[in-house]
Parts: sequence; structure tokens; C-alpha cells
Amino acid sequence: MQNEVINAIMARRSIRQYHATPVARDTMMQIMTCGINAANGQNKQSWEVRIIDNPAKMQQIQDLMVAGNPALQPDMLRGCMRGAPVMTFIARDLGYDFSAYDCGLLAGNMMLAAQSLGVGSICLGSPVRFINDAANSAEILSLLGFSENYELCLCVGFGYANESPEAKPRDINKVQFVD
Ligand SMILES: Cc1cc2nc3c(=O)[nH]c(=O)nc-3n(C[C@H](O)[C@H](O)[C@H](O)COP(=O)(O)O)c2cc1C
Repeated sequence: MQNEVINAIMARRSIRQYHATPVARDTMMQIMTCGINAANGQNKQSWEVRIIDNPAKMQQIQDLMVAGNPALQPDMLRGCMRGAPVMTFIARDLGYDFSAYDCGLLAGNMMLAAQSLGVGSICLGSPVRFINDAANSAEILSLLGFSENYELCLCVGFGYANESPEAKPRDINKVQFVD
């Protein structure tokens, strides 16, 4: 069976090479509108999202990440954003035990909406670690400006793809009907 939704799901791949072309804010808002329409526990919308599309601001965050993780290679810290020209930082409400799932579903919708609009994406866990574990994490997080009791839990980068990666293998045997 094929339809536009299935096509978008099957065609989406993590993009790690981007053109420098920015993604228009209108397009990002369409992507975000799809994101916040994800299923979420009790409709608490237990997420907050900050979008960085300004290269200077992105550079500032990466510089702070380098300064706050002196034991790690600067190239690795800068590279962990995969060169995506737009980065979304997603935080979860620590007061709700299902908020990580809400954020994951939000991110999934965002990436599929992007795919349908011809925008590439990459879900990223490593910047979350490098920010939350940084010696200067409070400074980086205050720049993002999340509310009290919210914790950065996921990043999703967006941009126009400069590569067409093959699908990685999936194991359908992890799915079983129980008779
Ligand atoms: C929670 C999560 C964290 C991830 N973190 C990273 C990351 O830090 N760096 C990276 O390059 N890819 C990251 N990915 C992307 C995965 O590697 C990718 O989704 C997986 O290999 C399947 O490939 P596909 O997305 O192209 O189907 C992450 C994906 C998820 C869902």
C-alpha cells in the first residue's frame, strides 16, 4: 500500500550533510505546527522548543559547548550538530512522567512534516549530553531560556539535504503477533 504519509515515512532518513540554505521561518512554523499536533499525554503538551536559525547564535552555543567540555575534542563538539542550519532544542517537563514520550512524538511529527515539505532532518541526542553535562550548562541553557523545571532532552536539526543516504536495515522480527 502507498499513500503520501507512508511515502514520507519510508523516504525519511537522517541527514548529516546540509546545504547552507536556511529554512524559511514560515516553513519551520508549519513543521512546528505539525509537531505540536502530535499525540501527547493528557494533552499536557509537556514540551518546550527553542529554534536557533541564526548562524551567530548557533556559533555562540557551539563555542560555549567547547568551553564547557574541555576534555572533549572541539571538532567533535561542533560536528555533533551535523551542520544543520536550523537546530531545534526540545525540553521536557520534569513534572510529568511521560514527558519524554511526548517530546519523542513531537520530534517524530516534526521530522515527517519536514520530509513532506522537502526539508531534511536529523534527531540528535549527543548535543543534549554535551550541553547538560557541560561545566557551563546553566549558561548555555539560560541562553535557550526554557521554563523552570524543564530539562533539555532532544535536538532535531533541519535543512536542505546535500546527501541521499540509503535506508539502514530494520528488523521486522522484533514485531510479533501474540496468538
Ligand atoms: C533519540 C535519538 C538520538 C539520536 N542521536 C543521534 C546523534 O547524536 N547523532 C547522529 O548522527 N544521529 C543520531 N540519531 C539518528 C540515528 O542514528 C538514526 O535515526 C538511525 O541510525 C536510523 O537511521 P535513519 O534515521 O536514517 O532511518 C539519533 C536518533 C534518535 C531517535
